[in-house]
Amino acid sequence: MRRFEQERKTLKSGFTGDMESDQMKGMPQPPLEKPYGEKDEIIDLPKVTGNLVKKNDIFQCIMERKSHRKFKEERLSLEELSFLLYTTQGVKEVRGNGYASIRPVPSAGARHPFETYIGVTRVEGLDKGLYRYSGLEHKLIKIKKDQDIGEKMTIGAKGQKFVGEAPVTFIWTVIPYRGEWRYDQRSHKPMLLDAGHLCHGLYLSAEALNLGTCAIAAYEQKLMDEIVEVDGIDEFVVYMSPVGKL
Ligand SMILES: Cc1cc2nc3c(=O)[nH]c(=O)nc-3n(C[C@H](O)[C@H](O)[C@H](O)COP(=O)(O)O)c2cc1C
Repeated sequence: MRRFEQERKTLKSGFTGDMESDQMKGMPQPPLEKPYGEKDEIIDLPKVTGNLVKKNDIFQCIMERKSHRKFKEERLSLEELSFLLYTTQGVKEVRGNGYASIRPVPSAGARHPFETYIGVTRVEGLDKGLYRYSGLEHKLIKIKKDQDIGEKMTIGAKGQKFVGEAPVTFIWTVIPYRGEWRYDQRSHKPMLLDAGHLCHGLYLSAEALNLGTCAIAAYEQKLMDEIVEVDGIDEFVVYMSPVGKL
């Protein structure tokens, strides 16, 4: 029963005792978002308004939310994708001279330690492939065209076919130093709690558009890190969620 007593520590509050974080030492803050290069292909996203919402009743959205693992063949529109990205990780406000970003989901100390990648198989106006979302600019950064992105994501998700067959799959990475800079290793638990808020935000946003999603934590770490081209140390995949029409 107590086999994992040591490992359970991560689940507990680490906010006891003295710790001097890099912030306290006066070290520079890491960027709010992973920067992109001058040569990267940037894709503008449609402006997000509430007009796209089909279910306006928040009670209905909350009560009808469930995990969906079957999606129609139909494509997602760029407007729908834009809505889902903005309502989960769009930056509504930058505070304190670049100190914190305020987004539709909460985050401990407003650190927002995640990057949102999307594996796209069927979204109007987008090639099949891998993209990253800039919440600061509300734009997509094209990482690569990839005809096999669906198959790769299915393998990465331990053979869960609906992950690769969905029109789009959200793949969230964490950049741990964004939290550690402020809270040292005490940040690890809050960062995982934050991932939960983020994915639940996607569930509710999808519900409001009559779309479906399903949280995915069963995946091959190394494979998924390779798919999104991150090093697995300073940035790695923590959560996924395929989205499609019902
Ligand atoms: C952290 C987390 C990880 C999950 N991982 C998977 C997964 O890998 N595959 C899957 O089919 N469902 C996964 N689910 C979905 C759960 O099975 C689902 O939420 C649960 O059965 C309750 O059903 P409901 O969401 O329809 O209420 C996950 C859910 C959460 C919150």
